[in-house]
Amino acid sequence: MKTGILQFKPIFGKVKENIKNIENLARGKEFDLLVLPELASSGYLFASIDELEELSEFPEDGLFCNALRKISEKKNAYIVSGFPEKADEGGKTRFYNSSILISPDGRYYIYRKIHLFYEEKLWFSPGNIPLEVHRISGRGYEDVGIGMMICFDWFFPETARALALRGAQIICHSSNLVMPYCQSAMSVRALENQVFTVTSNRTGREICGGKEMEFTGGSVILNPNGDYLFRASRDKDELAVIEIDPALALNKNLNSRNNIFKDRRSEFYEK
Ligand code: ACM
Repeated sequence: MKTGILQFKPIFGKVKENIKNIENLARGKEFDLLVLPELASSGYLFASIDELEELSEFPEDGLFCNALRKISEKKNAYIVSGFPEKADEGGKTRFYNSSILISPDGRYYIYRKIHLFYEEKLWFSPGNIPLEVHRISGRGYEDVGIGMMICFDWFFPETARALALRGAQIICHSSNLVMPYCQSAMSVRALENQVFTVTSNRTGREICGGKEMEFTGGSVILNPNGDYLFRASRDKDELAVIEIDPALALNKNLNSRNNIFKDRRSEFYEK
């Protein structure tokens, strides 16, 4: 299964330009599953709710989600990407830091980030839908479990563990990483859950209202042994595709006596 990352530098507030950049990077490339960064449509450093209102969208008909739908259909491939989601809930507008998984036939699934990082808490509501695994099939792969998590979710090992327990074989991890730890830590997330992980991180720097953030690039794809199959540069736009066998993530036996799921002693873990 051809699995890839698209690493780039979203330009804050320029949704159309960001779409163009994504289309250009995807041109001529083949993949079955492509993972884009967190908030890939909008950029990261919001300064007001008005800005977020303007740049967020409903997944069913938003500009960015529709553009991804077109790429997904054209490439006959699944795409995961972060975007600021607008939701109407009981007459109230809420905003979520979300990921969308788009299928080439137009169906889509949403994940809303459950662990908000730092000032994201000023703008976004915390995710309110369960961690789910979606089964996907295509050319040469069938019934593969896909889980989504977003950036800082990696800091909470329960997120990847819950996805793995629910059948995720590939964890799609759209990110805007600013701390230097995640790209190393994902080796453990992959190993301890015996899953593939695909961390698609953004690059570049954003400056807004006296605040500045630098993003660390270095997107990584790992196999269930925690081995790096791919590491991106710190600062370049890249679309990289790796051939993986998702069936490897179905085997949870480390040896003839240890199965990482059956050996869990959850009665000792409850607080
Ligand atoms: C992060 O969660 N964007 C650091």
